[in-house]
Amino acid sequence: MSERPRVIVTRRMPEAVEARLEALFDVQLNIDDHQFDNAELIGALQSADGLLGTVTDPYSKDVLAAGGALRARIIANFAVGYNNFDLEAAKAAGIAISNTPGVLTEATADTALTLLLNVLRGTWRFESMLRRGDWQGFGPTSCLGVSPQGKTLGIIGMGRIGRAMARRCYHGLGMKIIYYNRSPVADPEVPEARACATMGEVMAEADVVSLHIPGGAENRHRISRDLLEMMKPGAYLINTARGDVIDEAALIDLLENRRIAGAGLDVFENEPQVPERLLALDNVSLLPHLGSATIETRTAMGMLAVDNLEAFFDGKPMPSRVV
Ligand code: GLV
Repeated sequence: MSERPRVIVTRRMPEAVEARLEALFDVQLNIDDHQFDNAELIGALQSADGLLGTVTDPYSKDVLAAGGALRARIIANFAVGYNNFDLEAAKAAGIAISNTPGVLTEATADTALTLLLNVLRGTWRFESMLRRGDWQGFGPTSCLGVSPQGKTLGIIGMGRIGRAMARRCYHGLGMKIIYYNRSPVADPEVPEARACATMGEVMAEADVVSLHIPGGAENRHRISRDLLEMMKPGAYLINTARGDVIDEAALIDLLENRRIAGAGLDVFENEPQVPERLLALDNVSLLPHLGSATIETRTAMGMLAVDNLEAFFDGKPMPSRVV
């Protein structure tokens, strides 16, 4: 292209990513990192050749079908998930979409493992006690948690992140692994993982269930009240996928009634709102959607998004095109 493509970036990016964007494109950065509303998203789509967006931008039908003439031909999403898009509307508008698979697998699995250990060992609760000045010193029966060794981890969604979580828990914690996945998967690094025919089987058998299915309309409330009620008393639920894959109100009921032992959640149905009822519970560990948030991983995600933009504008195959 003779003229540099105009690219609008909807949120702040790691420094190295912004520097590369500025070198390649006529770029508009979001210096104060505010969240774009629908009007601003539509304005961006009307005035730029491409956007670098992320999960906080709702690319709904309303936005993608707004006011006919959209100039943008590509939106590179800074996330592996793309539930913030109406993909049909993107296709109808002739806009290519890409995501950032692969580069955030390990960081997200680390977050799931952190939550698992946090809730089984109650570490966040005991740290808060210490910080409040309430610690009375070591005691043989104080600060007791539950050991993961020999327990069963049930993975729902054995994609890249699910398998990375399975590897950590099998090799690192000595857990047994069972899983549910739409299609069969074999991971030579977790040779004894057992596939279950249904999600219900995993929910009923696991001591800890970890969710790794994509968000989006198809999976909304997939982990329904009925499935949650199949969990063993004393079992734990971990979610680093998307908040709305669980019926959050049903989960809170079960946690309040101590029907299950606890939950570790990095994602919520209506982010950044976290229900008061969850905040009031002492058997949950809650994180602010930081699954992939390491400087290395976030830089790699940004670079992959830029690779997609660059390939698109050069007329080459995009490394991770969704539609
Ligand atoms: C973040 O949530 C992602 O999908 O990468």
